[in-house]
Amino acid sequence: MTTPSTPTTPDAAPDPNAVAPAVASLDTIVSLAKRRGFVFPSSEIYGGINAVWDYGPLGVELKNNVKRAWWRAMVQERDDIVGLDAGILMHPQVWVTSGHVASFSDPLVECETCHRRFRLDELPGAEDLSATDQRDPMIVERLGLRHEADGGRLSAPRRFNLMFKTFMGPVEDEAAIVYLRPETAQGSYVNFKNVQQSTRKKLPFGIAQVGKSFRNEISPGNFVFRMREFEQMEMQYFVRPDAAAETFEAWLPRRWDWYTRYGVAPERLRFREHAPDELAHYAKKAIDIEYRFPFGWKELEGIHNRGDFDLGNHQRVSGENLEYFDPATDEHFIPWIVETAGGPDRAAFTFLIDSYREEEVRGERRVVLGLHPDLAPYKVAVLPLLKKRPEIVELCRRILADLKRDLMAVYDDTAAIGKLYRRQDEIGTPWCVTVDVESLEDGAVTVRDRDAMTQERIPAEGVKRAILDRMDAARR
Ligand code: GAP
Repeated sequence: MTTPSTPTTPDAAPDPNAVAPAVASLDTIVSLAKRRGFVFPSSEIYGGINAVWDYGPLGVELKNNVKRAWWRAMVQERDDIVGLDAGILMHPQVWVTSGHVASFSDPLVECETCHRRFRLDELPGAEDLSATDQRDPMIVERLGLRHEADGGRLSAPRRFNLMFKTFMGPVEDEAAIVYLRPETAQGSYVNFKNVQQSTRKKLPFGIAQVGKSFRNEISPGNFVFRMREFEQMEMQYFVRPDAAAETFEAWLPRRWDWYTRYGVAPERLRFREHAPDELAHYAKKAIDIEYRFPFGWKELEGIHNRGDFDLGNHQRVSGENLEYFDPATDEHFIPWIVETAGGPDRAAFTFLIDSYREEEVRGERRVVLGLHPDLAPYKVAVLPLLKKRPEIVELCRRILADLKRDLMAVYDDTAAIGKLYRRQDEIGTPWCVTVDVESLEDGAVTVRDRDAMTQERIPAEGVKRAILDRMDAARR
C-alpha cells in the first residue's frame, strides 16, 4: 500500500494528464449504470430533474455496502467513535451561527443575452482562478470573459448561497424559513454535549454520521459527482486544541487507506492542500483526497481542521456551555475539531469507475466490475446448467435459500451459462455457483471465481461456508 507521507500541494501537483483515468469516457459508466440498474435519472418519465439521481436495485445495494464499509471502519472497528443520526431540518439559527447563511456561497455570473447563470470558476478561461480572483468584481472584464455559446456579456460575479430553503408549519413567511442541511456536521456539533455526557466519552473521541445533505449547486453535473440531493459520510473528531494538528495529519493516511483497502488504485489518488484563500469559512487547514475521474482530478473527500470555530460559535450564540472538562489536567476548554468529510455517492461512483475493466477472453470481450466482495451488490449467483431439469432447479433453490439467510444472493436461468457468467461479471458478483447434472449424483457444485475465472468443485452443503470464508479472507 503506498500512502504518500507528504500531501501534494497545488504548486507541486503532478501533471493531471500523466495519470490516466481507469475509464476513458464517463459515458461507459453512465450507460452501464442505467442498463444494469445501478443509477437512473430522477423523474425520467417527466424529462428528469437536474442533478437528482435515483439508485436502482443494484445501486442501492452498492451504496448501502459503501455506507456499511465506512461505518465498519469508522465506528464498529474503533472504541473512540460513536454514531449519530441527526435531523435534516434544524433550528435556522444553527446555519446563521455556523456561518453558512453568510458564507456558504459560490461565485455566479449571468449572461446578459440568454440570462443563464454559471459558476465563474467553471467558465473556459476561469478554471484556475484563485479564490481571491473569484471575489474580484472586475474579474469578468479583466479576463474578457463572454458566454461561449451566444457571445453574450457576462455580469460581474455575485455570491449565490447554496442552501435550500423551505417553510416549517402552515405559514410561509420569513419567520417560518428553515434550511435543508448542506452538511451533516452541524448535527454532531449541536449534539456534542448530549453525546459526550450520555456515552461518558473522554477526549479524543468522534461522532460519525451518514445521511442526506442538500445544496443548490449552480453547476451540478458529471453524473452523481455533483448533485443537489446527496449523502455524506462525515466524522467529527473532538480533541484538545494542542492535539489538533497532529490528529489532522493522522487522519490523512487512515482515510486514504480506506479507499485503497476497498480496491481504489493508489496511483489514481492524491492529496491536495487548499490554498489559504480557498479554505472554507470554518477551516484552519484542509486537505482533499482527490481521485482521477474521467473528467479530471476532483475531490473525493475532505479532511479539515475546523479549530474551535463551530463549538466556539455555538457556545457564544446559544449561551450553552459547550466546554469540556479534562479531569487529568483540571482544565475547561472548547475542543477543537478534525473532520473527515466524504460521501457515499462520490465513493460508490469512484468504486464503480475504478473497478471497471474490459478484457478479452478466448476471443470474446468481457466487462468486469472487480468490486471488493464487501461492496459487490450480490456476493454470489446461483445458476443452473440445465433449467429444464427440475431436480437441478430444485437444488439451486435450496442452495439459494440457505445463502440468502446471510448474504445477498441471486438466481438466474434466463440464458446459457457463458452468458450468465458474463452478466454477473459485469455487475461485480465475485462468485457464481453452478449446479449441473453431475451435482445430482455426487452432491457437488462448481464455484467460479469472477477475477481468476477458476472453477472449484465443492459439496453443495458447504457452499455457504465457502463463500463466507472467502468474504472473510477478502476483508483481511
Ligand atoms: N462538512 C464539511 C463538508 O461538507 P465538503 O467538502 O463540502 O465538506 C464533503 O463536502 C463531501 O461531501 C465531499 O467530499 C463529497 O464527497 C460530498 N459532497 C459534497 N457536495 C456534494 C454534491 N453536490 N454531490 C455529491 N456529493 C457531494
